[in-house]
Amino acid sequence: MKIRVDLNLNAKDNGYDILIDSGIVSGGYNKETAAVLSSSGLNLKGRALVITCKTVNGLYGNAVSSFLKNYGADDFAVMVLPDGEATKSLGYLSDIHDRLVENRFERSDFIIAFGGGVIGDIAGFAAATYLRGINFIQVPTTLLADVDSSVGGKTGIDHPKGKNLIGAFYQPKAVLIDVDLLKTLDKRELINGFAEVIKYGAVLDAGFFAYLEKGYEKVLSYDKDALTHIIERSCSIKAEVVKEDEKEAGLRSVLNFGHSLGHAVETLYNYESVKHGEAIAIGMVFAAALSKKIGLCSEETVKRIGNLIKNSGLPSDIPGFTPEQYINAMKLDKKVSEKQIKFVLVKDIGKYEFRKLDFDFILSFLKESSLNENRK
Ligand SMILES: NC(=O)c1ccc[n+]([C@@H]2O[C@H](COP(=O)([O-])OP(=O)(O)OC[C@H]3O[C@@H](n4cnc5c(N)ncnc54)[C@H](O)[C@@H]3O)[C@@H](O)[C@H]2O)c1
Repeated sequence: MKIRVDLNLNAKDNGYDILIDSGIVSGGYNKETAAVLSSSGLNLKGRALVITCKTVNGLYGNAVSSFLKNYGADDFAVMVLPDGEATKSLGYLSDIHDRLVENRFERSDFIIAFGGGVIGDIAGFAAATYLRGINFIQVPTTLLADVDSSVGGKTGIDHPKGKNLIGAFYQPKAVLIDVDLLKTLDKRELINGFAEVIKYGAVLDAGFFAYLEKGYEKVLSYDKDALTHIIERSCSIKAEVVKEDEKEAGLRSVLNFGHSLGHAVETLYNYESVKHGEAIAIGMVFAAALSKKIGLCSEETVKRIGNLIKNSGLPSDIPGFTPEQYINAMKLDKKVSEKQIKFVLVKDIGKYEFRKLDFDFILSFLKESSLNENRK
């Protein structure tokens, strides 16, 4: 399936295609991939730097080399970075820049981000910043990257004081999603990405949410058709949102459902031992409970979101930090004022509402919440 991300940047550079299929990287030449690459504006005769991580290179290094040769891109090098969030740092960004400078990469050359969200974010940011921007494509390899980070143009690295603090909106020329690559993904990573899929259904598409309630077991047993379906639907939803609001001036913040408390959970764990999707799963359950507290949604809605999260093997209980620690961590978020935070709440499955809420109110809710009594 091909999905178009339409952007109104300017007439010449107005969007890109997301291609979702099995065997894009590993299955040999196919016409559809060739068509997407040729309409992307990439100069396949130019030089390419494939940026990847150790695990993905070990599994698919040969496949990605054959893939490039199949489409006439013969002049390429591969740069392998360590696995893990710590790679999204100024040090590794600088290593990528060094490599590009030493090899005299030009504007007509391009980067391929081949990996999960970590690689997509840093490789995209390197592309955004080298020579004020060179072309790049995303070839995601985790479910989280397929459904979220590879689409929409948020690129960046972490700062020792906070995640994703340094970055740019910079769109790829194409996103090529090969569903077959997920078969080697660790189950915990698959479930981690599934949290973002639940998010799309919970606040933007009731029909999709109902599909996930019925079909989550298939997805989590790596059923290719089910995975393809959820990736297609998630990318379509994200493409629609990004088209309306590329730089998160309004609507795009709906994609932060679960992220206010989720980011606080990640911060309090110092980004170790909890994954992004797991943290936002906890955040979605909290946001749903908060929505009910202010009379926005029913108990049924809270239960459905909580049940799908728990049934998928995602955590739902708020970890045992104090309510004050959560409030302090939320205040570190880029998008808050001293007294209030803009929360994405749920009105009904598939329907959201933005509300500015006082930190005092959230603190008292954290203290009284039954979720809190279940804390681990
Ligand atoms: N840019 C955005 O819009 C956006 C959105 C959400 C998350 N993110 C970022 O994404 C990052 C998390 O991404 P992630 O969850 O993909 O983590 P990740 O990139 O660290 O990948 C997770 C692990 O899976 C391994 N892996 C990747 N593909 C594999 C495959 N096919 N088979 C086997 N192993 C494989 C990796 O080596 C790594 O160890 C975070 O830094 C987060 O901030 C960005």
